[in-house]
Amino acid sequence: MQIYLDYSATTPTRPEAIAAMQAVLTQEWGNPSSLHEWGNRAAMVLEEARVKVADLINAANPESIIFTSGGTEADNLAIMGVARCYDVPQHLIISSVEHSAINEPVRLLEKWGWEVTRLDVDGKGSVNPLDLKAALRHNTVLVSVIYGQSEVGTVQPIEELGKIARSPMVGRSLSHGVLFHTDAVQAVGRLPIDVQNLPVDLLSLSSHKLYGPLGAGALYVRPGVELLPLFGGGGQEMGLRSGTQATPIIAGFGVAAELAAQELASETPRLIKLRDRLFANLADVPGLIPTGDRDRRLPHHVSFYLEQADGEKLSGKTLVRQMNLAGIGISAGAACHSGKLSPSPILLAMGYSQKAALGGIRLTLGRDTTEADIDWTAIVFKQVLQRLTPDLFLATR
Ligand SMILES: Cc1ncc(COP(=O)(O)O)c(C=O)c1O
Repeated sequence: MQIYLDYSATTPTRPEAIAAMQAVLTQEWGNPSSLHEWGNRAAMVLEEARVKVADLINAANPESIIFTSGGTEADNLAIMGVARCYDVPQHLIISSVEHSAINEPVRLLEKWGWEVTRLDVDGKGSVNPLDLKAALRHNTVLVSVIYGQSEVGTVQPIEELGKIARSPMVGRSLSHGVLFHTDAVQAVGRLPIDVQNLPVDLLSLSSHKLYGPLGAGALYVRPGVELLPLFGGGGQEMGLRSGTQATPIIAGFGVAAELAAQELASETPRLIKLRDRLFANLADVPGLIPTGDRDRRLPHHVSFYLEQADGEKLSGKTLVRQMNLAGIGISAGAACHSGKLSPSPILLAMGYSQKAALGGIRLTLGRDTTEADIDWTAIVFKQVLQRLTPDLFLATR
C-alpha cells in the first residue's frame, strides 16, 4: 500500500486538466499573439484560462491575472517588479517565515542597498499586526507576508495585516498606503480567497499546488498597481511577463482552478476532518509535538517536531526515509529545503532550538486521501518512531 502525504510539495495533475492540455497541444497549438485564425484560437484558450483563475480568487478583472511559470516567478515578480519602480533603494517588510521565493529576491535587494524589516513571529508562527504597524516607515514601499505557511501550516491574519499596510498613516509621516503582497501558493484552492474583499494588491498562486500541471502560476495584480517586468521581450501578459505563453499548461491550470473553485465548499471541510483525525491519532505519541497553530491552519496540513531529534541519529529526514520504506510519502519540512540537513529556518524563527529545528515533520493531505490512509499512516508512524526512539516509548509505559 502506497500513501502520498506530501500535497504541499506538489499535487497529482487531475485527469480533466491533462485532457485539456492534450487538446490544446494537439489542436490549439498556435501562438496566442499571432493575428490569424490559429493565433486567435490559442488566444481564446489563454483568455478562458485567465477567467477561470480570476474566478477562483474572485478577481473582477481577468486582466489582473498575470501568468507566470509558477509560484516562484510570481513571488519574484511581486518583489522585484515593485522594487524596479524605484531609482533609489527604499524599505520593505516581510515576515520571518517566508518561502525562499520571497527571501532570495529580498536578500538580493538588501545587497543593492534596500532596507529590510523581517517581522518576528510567535511560537505558533503568527505575525502580530501591531508589529507591522510599528515597522512601517516613511519610505516603506512594500509589505509581503505569506498567507499559509508551507512548513507549519499557520494561516496569517492577512486581512488585518493588509489593512494596516494599505492605510495612510498620518502622524507617521506616511501619507500614503503601502503595497501589500501575499504568497498564497499554499492557500489558494484550499481556502476561500476573495481579492475583492481581501486588502491585498498582489497575490501569488501556483498551478501544481491545486492539481494543475507543473510549470504555471500567476500573480494577481490589483488594477492600478504599478509594476515593472523582470525581463524584456514581446510584452505579453499586459507587458509584465514577456515570452510566448505556455498555452497547454495554462489551459490545464485553468481547468484545475475551475474545479478547485467548484469543489472548495466540500473539499475544505473534508480535509479539515482528516487533518484533525491525524492529529488525534498521533496525540499520544511520546516526543511528537505539534507545530504551528492548531486553530488558524491550512486545512490539509499536519506538522510536528521530534523532541528527541539530534541531527545525527534522528532527524525529520530520518523519519521521512523510514516512512518512505514503509510506502508513505511525507516531508521533513518545506520540500525545497529537504535536500540538505540544516535546521529549519522557519522553526528557528518560531523560537525552537537548533536541535528541535532538525526534527520538523510535515504530512499534507489531498483529494485522494481517505480515512483509511490516515489511520494506516498513524499506525506506521508509531511503529517507525518506536523503532527509532525505543527508550522514549519505554519511558512512557
Ligand atoms: C509558500 C510557497 N511559495 C512559493 C512556492 C513556489 O512555488 P512553485 O513551486 O510553483 O515555484 C512554494 C512551493 O513549495 C510555496 O510553498
